[in-house]
Amino acid sequence: MQIAFIGVGGIARNYLASLEKLNRTVAAVCDINEQTAARVAGELNCHGYTDHRDMLARENPDVVFVAIPPAAHDTQTIDAAQAGANLFVAKPVAMDIDVARRTQDAIAASGRINQVGYMARYSDITERAKALVKGRDLGMGMGRFLTRMSPSHPWWGKFSVSGGQLLEQSTHVFDWLRLFLGEVETVQAFGHAGPDNTIADFEDSTAVNLKFANGAVGSVVSTCSARVKDGFMTELCGRDLYLRLAMDTHISGYVDQEEIDFHGQERGYFRQVEQFISAVEAQDQSLVRSSYADAVKSLSVTLAANRALESGRVETVE
Ligand SMILES: NC(=O)c1ccc[n+]([C@@H]2O[C@H](COP(=O)([O-])OP(=O)(O)OC[C@H]3O[C@@H](n4cnc5c(N)ncnc54)[C@H](O)[C@@H]3O)[C@@H](O)[C@H]2O)c1
Repeated sequence: MQIAFIGVGGIARNYLASLEKLNRTVAAVCDINEQTAARVAGELNCHGYTDHRDMLARENPDVVFVAIPPAAHDTQTIDAAQAGANLFVAKPVAMDIDVARRTQDAIAASGRINQVGYMARYSDITERAKALVKGRDLGMGMGRFLTRMSPSHPWWGKFSVSGGQLLEQSTHVFDWLRLFLGEVETVQAFGHAGPDNTIADFEDSTAVNLKFANGAVGSVVSTCSARVKDGFMTELCGRDLYLRLAMDTHISGYVDQEEIDFHGQERGYFRQVEQFISAVEAQDQSLVRSSYADAVKSLSVTLAANRALESGRVETVE
């Protein structure tokens, strides 16, 4: 299996570590930063490129991991799909919905395996929670993403590159809630630009309300001004059911009379890559829990939330 990367910054390291654990070698890497491309290619003893089209033409990879900032998404994934590669794309899939839709069409036309890096879907606690809520009516879902901006990633704080915290980071929480409660129809949002707007040029604290198509309601609070324990968390409520899913590894709460206190091992980072490689080998998209088309729906929710922040009105998810 010829594996290649487009973008070899922070999260690519995580994917590379999982591939190494799976005894998979990487044939080529591309990064627009020449030094980064050369350094990582040297470390992996593979070919390095600064132009992804060059890499696709010369290496003809079976698998391409795309791990670039939201606003950088243009035709890279489309080009890789048209070159016949199976695709693993870091979340969020893009910043622009038209880019995402064009890419979704190109992937569908290629018929190749596609997966997006929503690792929480692959965690032990998601598996356990899915079993616990099966067949039950969930009326409400809450989530939070509380963190600090990373000084090593100044682009996170620039709305024009990251799309803001909701699109870039809290997308994990929106995606997690969609997994349990289904599609979001409308959103309402409030934001506050606090003292940290020296790091972020957008509201660093936000509250988003959600109305799901099945009638359930939800809310997601986010900040990039304070990192706390269990800052990445989701809560699910239904009749005689409350589950608190914290940082990918712990569920507490109850279902009927039963108290739930479950600790998982696998946070999903490794399993998402392991399962993707299995799906590619079997050419079986049903092994994927986070397809590109599904991830476009999570992008649509965060774009609607961004519109609601700006307009102050209830916005419909496209
Ligand atoms: N848990 C997660 O799922 C998780 C965690 C971190 C980041 N991410 C996502 O991964 C993506 C990348 O984030 P990161 O933290 O790795 O950022 P990063 O800045 O560390 O790395 C991005 C790399 O992409 C390169 N790049 C930019 N445009 C390119 C292009 N057109 N062609 C080739 N290379 C290009 C940059 O030079 C850089 O080396 C983002 O969408 C981010 O949201 C996901």
